[in-house]
Amino acid sequence: MKCAVDVGFGFTKAVNEKGKEVIFPSAVAKTFLTDIGLKPTSEYFITYMNQTYAVGKAATHCMITETSFSDDRFVSEFSKLLVLTALMALDSDREIELGLGLPLMLYPKLKEKVRDYFEFAEEIIVDSNNVAHTYHITRCEVFPQGVGALFSIDSNIEKGIYCVLDIGFRTTDVIVVEVNENNINPLLELCFTLDKGMSMAIEKLSIILERKYGVSYDTNLLLDIHERSQISVRGRKINIEEQKKEVFNTIANDIVQSISRKLQRGFDTFDGVFVAGGGAFNIAAVLQKEFENVQVIYNAQFANAKGFLNLLSILDE
Ligand SMILES: Nc1ncnc2c1ncn2[C@@H]1O[C@H](COP(=O)(O)OP(=O)(O)OP(=O)(O)O)[C@@H](O)[C@H]1O
Ligand SMILES: [Mg+2]
Repeated sequence: MKCAVDVGFGFTKAVNEKGKEVIFPSAVAKTFLTDIGLKPTSEYFITYMNQTYAVGKAATHCMITETSFSDDRFVSEFSKLLVLTALMALDSDREIELGLGLPLMLYPKLKEKVRDYFEFAEEIIVDSNNVAHTYHITRCEVFPQGVGALFSIDSNIEKGIYCVLDIGFRTTDVIVVEVNENNINPLLELCFTLDKGMSMAIEKLSIILERKYGVSYDTNLLLDIHERSQISVRGRKINIEEQKKEVFNTIANDIVQSISRKLQRGFDTFDGVFVAGGGAFNIAAVLQKEFENVQVIYNAQFANAKGFLNLLSILDE
């Protein structure tokens, strides 16, 4: 079964060829079986090589949570646990053809390493009901993020020069590609990564909430804030829609300005600007005020994962 996993700094997104999608925070914590009884079972507790881990949302509630930000994270047990958990959450078959991604800047350096780390691996993980899941990765292909997002678009893209913005949790990737009849070619000298992403909104919101209500919210507890409109303050539910709107807008403006400063040409000189990643809607809203050629890729947060999945099939042809 073909599956693709996009391991982001903030969230792991995964899809399979049956169209199933899963998403959870890219967080892993070692835990003890005895802890499990205390936790809701909605998220993932897995056992791998005799060690039990909380993965995803469950891990963000633990004291010591690993969220790895170094280059090595892509070739480490941390990423293996996220990928295996994603396969389990997708209800995958035993035999897996796996599509994975890397930030474009790390792609030449790490592509082979990541493929070798996953390809032909035979792994067993045990879920919280003590059911063992075995996965045999019969094939692993690694693709550049951002470029991958373009392959999630169903319609044909006309010949031309396009800009793809992938607005993530910690980073924003700016990718310029040339599209010809039969290939998509990144123009590497025009591509760059900004160390800015939507996590800035969470940090800012956390400061505002502390100032206004005197509660300190760990940023881990605000990870899902984009899908909530309330927080609890001393037992009272407070609506924070207004603050959220303002913060997301401020951060989006900040990111757009940073991109414009570094980009060697204006947004309006491209045949099109495609926006992907969880921050897509906020960023596009700012850009679309000024430019007409900007569009949000459908299901933007899953665009990379879906693109990797399509690429697995394209390579088959
Ligand atoms: N519906 C939404 N509205 C607003 N913001 C959203 C929405 N969905 C997701 N986000 C934002 O997108 C962010 C995560 O985006 P994404 O999953 O693309 O990041 P990532 O791939 O993990 O990070 P990176 O690309 O930096 O490695 C979240 O922090 C959240 O703020
Ligand atoms: Mg990403």
